Amino acid sequence: MEIILNIVYLISSIFFIFGIKKLSSPKTARQGNLYAAIGMLLAIIATLLDKQVITYEYIILGLIIGATIGTLMAVKVQMTGMPQMVGLLNGFGGGASALVATSEFYKVFNNPALSFELSVIISIVLSVLIGGVTFTGSLIAFGKLQGLVTGKVVKYTGQNAINVLLLLAVVVGGVLVVLDPSKQMILLGILSISLILGVLLVLPIGGADMPVAISLLNSYSGLAASMTGFVLQNNMLIIAGALVGASGIILTLIMTKAMNRSLMNVLLGGWDSAGSVSGAGSSEIKGDVKSVDAEEAAMIFDAAQSVIIVPGYGMAVAQAQHAVRDLMNILESKGINVRFAIHHVAGRMPGHMNVLLAEAQVEYDKLYALEDINDDFSNTDVVLVVGANDVVNPAARSDKNSPIYGMPILNVDYAKTVIVNKRSLNVGYAGISNELFFKPNTLMYFGDAKEAISKLVNEIKEL
Ligand code: TAP
Repeated sequence: MEIILNIVYLISSIFFIFGIKKLSSPKTARQGNLYAAIGMLLAIIATLLDKQVITYEYIILGLIIGATIGTLMAVKVQMTGMPQMVGLLNGFGGGASALVATSEFYKVFNNPALSFELSVIISIVLSVLIGGVTFTGSLIAFGKLQGLVTGKVVKYTGQNAINVLLLLAVVVGGVLVVLDPSKQMILLGILSISLILGVLLVLPIGGADMPVAISLLNSYSGLAASMTGFVLQNNMLIIAGALVGASGIILTLIMTKAMNRSLMNVLLGGWDSAGSVSGAGSSEIKGDVKSVDAEEAAMIFDAAQSVIIVPGYGMAVAQAQHAVRDLMNILESKGINVRFAIHHVAGRMPGHMNVLLAEAQVEYDKLYALEDINDDFSNTDVVLVVGANDVVNPAARSDKNSPIYGMPILNVDYAKTVIVNKRSLNVGYAGISNELFFKPNTLMYFGDAKEAISKLVNEIKEL
């Protein structure tokens, strides 16, 4: 039975690895998701058949409650609410790892016939620490994005010193428990401090930096699961946890790189403006803003041969992806070449724009990453920016004092004409003004993206 179990676990791991591989391209992502789900199903069935499972009542009860809540959440969640849902699920993963590790500790502690192996007790301490931090940290991240906890950067005197002291206490406590596992109160102390640390580490991070924090917490939840795998001596959990841990940290680094920030800068709440987007205007930049209405914009498009559409967070908020797809169709029916330029951090989560456009049936080969399209803007007739702001802000190229200085941006201002659709001149996520709106070749097309783009489509139809 043991051998069969391990063979099934090995097959599940192979499904996970191929699943992740397939997730790396939008074309194969659905298949990748399916592979990973099959891997998980196999792993769950194999685990349920393990001889260590004595009764099924509580497992079935938990399965029914968990599956019902999970299904309802997944069906109900809006696309824009996805980051906080992922955050919450990471938290549950971390919490589960910490609980399993604690219960394993007490299983051995309460049974004089059993004794702690060194590797197991070390894994228990690490699982409790990482799992505890992930649990409360993820709850705070969820609260920030859901508006239940302040989205502002929270700073207070002695913040870093307190965190370092708490971490030191955990390390000292961990060493004591490893040396003498009979000190059960210390393990509970480690669990309590870890829960506090999770809150203190995530609280300083600005609300809009949360996707980066969530990706990091995702990585932590994988590490916690892996540690629990060592506790339970379960190869499947070790492999799956390591995959989540590694992919989470890679994703975190990709995001920080695309924002030209260091991970430390995000974690220490370096961006005061992050999360305090509303209200601020673009008062520092003086100049004329030219605006167009739907009819004028339609005529500009009608005369174009090449168009690049740049979607951003506003398209997601307005759920304008279907209107944007209709625009693409009508322009293409007039023989105009239409492509999409996707910035790595457009929107609020990795792949945000790709997912929305895929949902609206825009073919993948029309989507171009920054490095593949940036040189083409200068020979493009019209660029339409739909609800994007920071990712097209030229200050990133030229203004050394700008918080986004150095962040790679889409060079939309090099095109012959840029039409920017958003509701006002208000700032985006980074909280900074955008000189693009004042450039001579820029025309502002004000309005909610869904309404404005639908109007534009109707006007083009009438030409
Ligand atoms: P932002 O710079 O956040 O700008 C979005 C713009 O959308 C706003 O200025 C807003 O202007 C407009 N908007 C909001 N609702 C709208 C609606 N209903 N219709 C039309 N426009 C609307 O977006 P971006 O250019 O996509 O940049 C993303 C930012 O998020 C970057 O700074 C990035 O670093 C950050 N970030 C991204 C991620 C990932 S992984 N994607 C993770 C963390 C942080 P109005 O209010 O004037 O309409």
